[in-house]
Amino acid sequence: MTRTLTQMAVEVLTTADGREKTALSRRHAAAWFAARAGRADPIPVGTADPPLRPARPAKPELLNPRDVPKRKPGSPAGRIALLHAVAHIELNAVDLHWDIVARFGHIPMPAGFYDDWVKAADEESKHFNLVCDCLEGLGSHYGALPAHAGMWRAAEGTADDIMGRLAVVPMVLEARGLDVTPGMIEIFRKADLPDVVAALEVIYAEEVGHVAYGSKWFNFLCGRENADPKERFHELVRRYFKGALKPPFNEAKRAEAGLPPDFYWPLAEGSNIRE
Ligand SMILES: [Fe+2]
Ligand SMILES: [Fe+2]
Repeated sequence: MTRTLTQMAVEVLTTADGREKTALSRRHAAAWFAARAGRADPIPVGTADPPLRPARPAKPELLNPRDVPKRKPGSPAGRIALLHAVAHIELNAVDLHWDIVARFGHIPMPAGFYDDWVKAADEESKHFNLVCDCLEGLGSHYGALPAHAGMWRAAEGTADDIMGRLAVVPMVLEARGLDVTPGMIEIFRKADLPDVVAALEVIYAEEVGHVAYGSKWFNFLCGRENADPKERFHELVRRYFKGALKPPFNEAKRAEAGLPPDFYWPLAEGSNIRE
């Protein structure tokens, strides 16, 4: 029986351990790109039945966002907590990208759609490993601290809505990453931790691509339905994303990723722009 891409995605989603999940994710990505380059038999996309929630390791303990202790980033413990939160985001991102591949196989999409999300999943896997290496270099590890339980909510809410998923995950959550990463890089630069700075710089550079994939495929699907992308974006973010977007925005990087200001400013905290 030929293995399909959506089956491969489900295998990643159902692997609990972080390092095992990311190793499998990278192997599957390499297999997909070898097939796409004609160096191996083609891999059909197929359809699959992904779990509503991905498998997770026993640690970290997942807490309600308000119960996750806040630590000052100026202290060594605070920097470890910050990196731990980043590792958790990267692991969720690995699953989010495989989930969009696994869940919407019944919607016909150009092969480039799968190329983009498989590449993004591969990069998130690398990011998780880089951040874990940094944590271990500082004497900690992923799982040593509690983490956010809410991270998968965006995925569950949009399990039946591919455009909602694109609007909320790459175009809101990953775009937020572009806003906050430069400040994080500064924290680790001041602490004289060049390895962490280098890891975060890799992440920062590659995340622009993920937001751009979101914007590209969101616009593609709007075109298919003859819908106005900006209006549809506002409608979907208001439906699926609780709360307002937080300025300041990284307008330069958002622009590089194909996200224009009139998409996000009307959804911002304190905005009185109404349609
Ligand atoms: Fe990432
Ligand atoms: Fe990403």
